[in-house]
Amino acid sequence: MKKEELVIGIPREIHEGCRCVAMVPEVVKTLVQRGHRVLVEKGAGEKAYYSDDLYSRVGAEIIAFTEELFGQADVIIKLRPPLYNKNTKKHELDMMKPGAVIVGFLAPTIQRQIVEKLVENKLTGFAMELIPRISRAQSMDALSSLSTVMGYRAVLLAANFLGKFFPLLMTAAGTIQPANVLVIGAGVAGLQAIALSHRLGARVEAFDTRPAVKEQVESLGARFVEMELPEDVETKYGYAKEVSEEFIKKEMEAIAGRLPRTDVVITTALVYGRKAPLLITEEMVKLMPPGSVIIDLAAERGGNCELTRADETVVEHGVTIVGTVNLPAMVPFHASQMYSKNIITFLRHLVSDGQLQIDSSDEITSETLLTTDGQVVNSRVRELLGMQPLTNGAQQDTAEEAEEQDKGE
Ligand code: NAI
Repeated sequence: MKKEELVIGIPREIHEGCRCVAMVPEVVKTLVQRGHRVLVEKGAGEKAYYSDDLYSRVGAEIIAFTEELFGQADVIIKLRPPLYNKNTKKHELDMMKPGAVIVGFLAPTIQRQIVEKLVENKLTGFAMELIPRISRAQSMDALSSLSTVMGYRAVLLAANFLGKFFPLLMTAAGTIQPANVLVIGAGVAGLQAIALSHRLGARVEAFDTRPAVKEQVESLGARFVEMELPEDVETKYGYAKEVSEEFIKKEMEAIAGRLPRTDVVITTALVYGRKAPLLITEEMVKLMPPGSVIIDLAAERGGNCELTRADETVVEHGVTIVGTVNLPAMVPFHASQMYSKNIITFLRHLVSDGQLQIDSSDEITSETLLTTDGQVVNSRVRELLGMQPLTNGAQQDTAEEAEEQDKGE
């Protein structure tokens, strides 16, 4: 019999509307084969079409009681950021055992109370959104997985809402002109949206502040909107930097000039740790033809369009504006599968000799590690939260310190 190593817990995702699960049976199987004990909350994979039976067959233990699962696990794997569980009347992070580890999206710059709880409960938190954008970490990049799903679904949603065809059609009843699609932000989601819009036959234009994407946009069959771009636009991890107000103004003019002939706008523009840049005002929406559609993939971070309402679809000035925030829920089977692959690759990176090792000299580990031993240890997050840089052991961050800084802001 194999030596038992880590106890890994997969709770049911309780975020409203989330249909994904953090680990699919195929991945659980490899963990069990390595001697780990995997606990899966009853019904955790059901909405993504992975039954309890599939998990049992690969050696997972199905746990009916949420608190039992959280209380036993050395490592909790989640997808959505932890939150208050209405059934147990406890926050997920308050159900974990002291010193345990959580791996998942932790929204550190958006939900500060999560960071505070991790610190307070002395939990080790690895935030999947912090996986560095380096080639070695590509297969762990969970943001890319979710963005792929979002870009794909955005096009299907747009095609659904648009009262027009996407492709050029030569029919007995005449020639139908293809739809014009404008994609703003050509990161992972944007490129996926470009690719699918093009495959569906639309005429696609795209724009991004990072000139590096021009070639990628063109290779997918779209036209890159040329603008004079600022020079220093990318961080060392491939994220866009915030651009000047003056540049945004010019960009908005370029977008406005295209809107009267655009049927679909898919916006994906984001700057890490910041509110999404506002690129389409109400006045600009009025320029679009009646029946046109805006899919705002930045809705959760405030939206790229002034009229976007997160998690709602509204019709304003004859334009349908979709602010759906949970697009991965529409492809739960594959979104869960992709995320699981990212997680297992990351775990493989962290675990050695059956135990989790925190090697802070390793770039992937140190960039993703958010909290440990009651401290916020991630320098990128500290900076974004306005905290002092950590100088080796010289500083103790308690939950009170974080709270104090919060009050001071
Ligand atoms: P993101 O979701 O943070 O942002 C979306 C896009 O919006 C980005 O392309 C950004 O440049 C663009 N943007 C920001 N402000 C804008 C504005 N005002 N107007 C127009 N566009 C604007 O980015 P995402 O999709 O997460 O990826 C960014 C890049 O990171 C990728 O294209 C790639 O180069 C790199 N990457 C590297 C990985 C790796 O090597 N492991 C994995 C994934 C991405």
